Amino acid sequence: MNIILLAGGKGTRLHPLTQDIPKPMVPVVNRPWLHHLVEIVSVLSASNIRCAVHYRWEIIRDVLLSRVKGGVPIELVLEREALGTGGAIKNAAQGIDETFLVLNADIVPGIDLRDLLRFHRDSGAVCTIALTRVEDPSAYGAVELSKQAQVLRFIEKPAPGKTSSNLVNAGIYIMEPKVLDYIPAGRAVSIEREVFPKLISDGLKVCGFASDAYWNDIGTRSGYLRTHWDILNGRMALRFPDSSYMRDPGQNIWVAHGVHVEPGARLVGPIFIGEGCMIRSGATVGPRAVLGPHVKVNTGAVIRDSVIWSGAHIGANSLIEECVVGFNTIIEDSRTARAELIRSHKLWENSTTLVTV
Ligand code: GDD
Ligand code: MG
Repeated sequence: MNIILLAGGKGTRLHPLTQDIPKPMVPVVNRPWLHHLVEIVSVLSASNIRCAVHYRWEIIRDVLLSRVKGGVPIELVLEREALGTGGAIKNAAQGIDETFLVLNADIVPGIDLRDLLRFHRDSGAVCTIALTRVEDPSAYGAVELSKQAQVLRFIEKPAPGKTSSNLVNAGIYIMEPKVLDYIPAGRAVSIEREVFPKLISDGLKVCGFASDAYWNDIGTRSGYLRTHWDILNGRMALRFPDSSYMRDPGQNIWVAHGVHVEPGARLVGPIFIGEGCMIRSGATVGPRAVLGPHVKVNTGAVIRDSVIWSGAHIGANSLIEECVVGFNTIIEDSRTARAELIRSHKLWENSTTLVTV
């Protein structure tokens, strides 16, 4: 089976963190998200994975190349101009003449992809859209389904009152090559705004596969943080990056090698601490914190509900809550930060490890 990953967006909702790293490369429990995703989709015995890239694509190339050797071949398909979700599919699917899978590269798919494929084959649809349930569909593609699971309407980012459905597009599609005929070539096309509505109005069979399995979106601060806590709490099963992490199961504390915790520092699970971190006396890490490699937490600092990327320094007596702190960022002493995305350095200016792989 051919698999296309849509990985070319600008990730504006995670700016400024995505100013120097594309969204699919953000670390999730200290590993680039795309590495996790490639592993998740590999259950389908993929013959080939094509990654449709544009924004900051060189970083995707460099980090993917460092991935496990001998795995499924991954091709990067570069768009010189961003082609939108539909244009990216058309461009990346060249030469594909059988059923294929497409995924937005910023979603966390707990759903069983084999069940989805079986459902698609049984339904005879040209396209099956995996669906998840949310409270407020306005940030997603809302879908209205018939009793036979056929998609009657697809409304991208519906304004309030536009639909009563809370079933939304999970960003996972099984497609027949026929769908490609409905995507105009050579220009930016939105699969959600143009192609799905057109397939439906032309009477082609588009089905929805509603699932209550785990699903999340790492493309916003809250979704990114929530994904971490769900992984640490075991709600979403992911392979952790390195078997040398030690786990204290009673407290859900994961610690890599080379971590130095001074006496008088407090670790409150669930937390995940990358290699070479230093946590000074009087600092508190957790509950719910992930520290990338070589993070330094100074005395009296408190970090909770936050993810800190590699090489950051957290100043003495600072309070970091519900934040994501970018690579090598320096947080000054006594700063209070709540619900922020913080980046103080360009990645390349002060380089330590980019992301551990
Ligand atoms: N190659 C390429 N080229 N990829 C792109 C482009 C492009 O021009 N534009 C966006 N993408 C990729 C993004 O990197 C992301 O992985 C995916 O396509 C979806 O784009 P987002 O910008 O993240 O869309 P969204 O989150 O607002 O909405 C989409 O996802 C929701 C689920 O999270 C839509 O598909 C919604 O219908 C859906 O509910
Ligand atoms: Mg998204």
